[in-house]
Amino acid sequence: MRGMDKKLKLLTYGCQMNVADSERMAGLLKQIGYSLTEDLSAADLILINTCCVRGTAEDKVFGQIGRFKTLKREKPSLILGVAGCMAQKEGANLIKRAPHVDFVLGTGQSCEVARVVQSLERERKHFVDISNVDGQTNSLDATSRCRSGQVSTFVPIMYGCNNFCTYCIVPYVRGRERSRKPEEIFAEVKQAVTEGFKEITLLGQNVNSYSGGMTFAELLRGVDKIAGVERLRFMTSHPKDLSDELIAAIAGGKNICEHIHLPVQYGSDKILQRMNRVYTVEKYLRLVEKIRAAIPAVSLTTDLIVGFPGETEEDFAETLDFLRAVQFDAAFTFIYSKRTGTPAATFDNQIDEETKHRRLDALMKVQNAISLEKNRAMLDSTVEILVEGASKTDDKIFTGRTRSNKLVLFAHGSERAGDLIDVKITQAQTWLLKGITL
Ligand code: SAH
Ligand code: SF4
Ligand code: F3S
Repeated sequence: MRGMDKKLKLLTYGCQMNVADSERMAGLLKQIGYSLTEDLSAADLILINTCCVRGTAEDKVFGQIGRFKTLKREKPSLILGVAGCMAQKEGANLIKRAPHVDFVLGTGQSCEVARVVQSLERERKHFVDISNVDGQTNSLDATSRCRSGQVSTFVPIMYGCNNFCTYCIVPYVRGRERSRKPEEIFAEVKQAVTEGFKEITLLGQNVNSYSGGMTFAELLRGVDKIAGVERLRFMTSHPKDLSDELIAAIAGGKNICEHIHLPVQYGSDKILQRMNRVYTVEKYLRLVEKIRAAIPAVSLTTDLIVGFPGETEEDFAETLDFLRAVQFDAAFTFIYSKRTGTPAATFDNQIDEETKHRRLDALMKVQNAISLEKNRAMLDSTVEILVEGASKTDDKIFTGRTRSNKLVLFAHGSERAGDLIDVKITQAQTWLLKGITL
């Protein structure tokens, strides 16, 4: 007989949506007696929540699954499960490739995790369910989360994606777009605040197309009114439909942070069209102008992909010019990864690895210089940060974030995680700032 003190080791890859799903699954598993552990050798259940947005994300997961083979041999009672986007994409192939995996649960079936584990506790046999990818995940939403962190947390407002950018696997592994009801979102935010969280990030693949019975701007204003939400963030915004109403909501908000993550993906019209992004460079630039005029303190970050099929040196040069024109605060840059089943995987003129890497390096060089310059402009200024806690490497150094989402390191005094404090910026680097408390 197993006692009530079973241990769960959860490994989460991929985006914030996966973090939120993991917290939910941990909540469900808690109800059947599993508490979280960091210690792999103590685990009775290992659950890997996976990502497949790029080949590198999948390689990491396969590597990890491989490493658990010995662990499983040493402890045959250990249950090993794979959930999330790669589970959705690969299904039974995962077990074929790694028979020591006990179960595979797709994104629409994560609400079943506790039932599946219980049945495997009784009788061990392989289990795969990747049905219902478009399913409402409300049954999952009804359970409370085991939230990680202590200051900042995620609240999904919608699931899935309808945009079908030609490079992207997400619409296939997350299904069609569906929105949660505002009441449910407000209730969850209130619950998180009661648990002590100060910063809420609303999540969706494209929050601008929220359709739960009010506009996204209205939803954001509603959450902004909830007492105890000291900072409010959201991601991701698709540039095609970021509304004037949303810009006004941020500009007039109380605790809505002045930061917009606005993935552009590329800086030439030809490639944007081939990516099915539905906007032009010109339209994006006009949007940026409008945002900056309405919210002068705004920080803008983006995602970019290099090496998309058909990309020429001219397209790439246009992207570098585009970066210089926009002056993003930061950019996440990715090498195009061919995803089987997406339209772009069949496009002609796939780009060779060497060219992709060369272009990534050049892109990062241009953006890093801009990011550094932007951060340097903050030297000697005083900014409010939300204290997150000790840094990973040194418990005398604490970290916090500005409203514009910049990371600030400072020497720890009496501050506690969750405090809002003023710091003076004394050093600027490409990806972070250093400051002193006042
Ligand atoms: N829904 C969000 C995030 C999607 S995934 C959005 O639309 O912005 C996060 C990022 O991964 C994307 O913005 C894109 O830059 C990158 N990405 C998606 N598919 C990719 C692929 N096949 N190769 C490389 N990067 C990819
Ligand atoms: Fe992928 Fe495009 Fe949807 Fe984002 S908007 S998840 S990049 S298909
Ligand atoms: Fe997120 Fe990766 Fe899935 S980016 S939605 S976990 S494919």
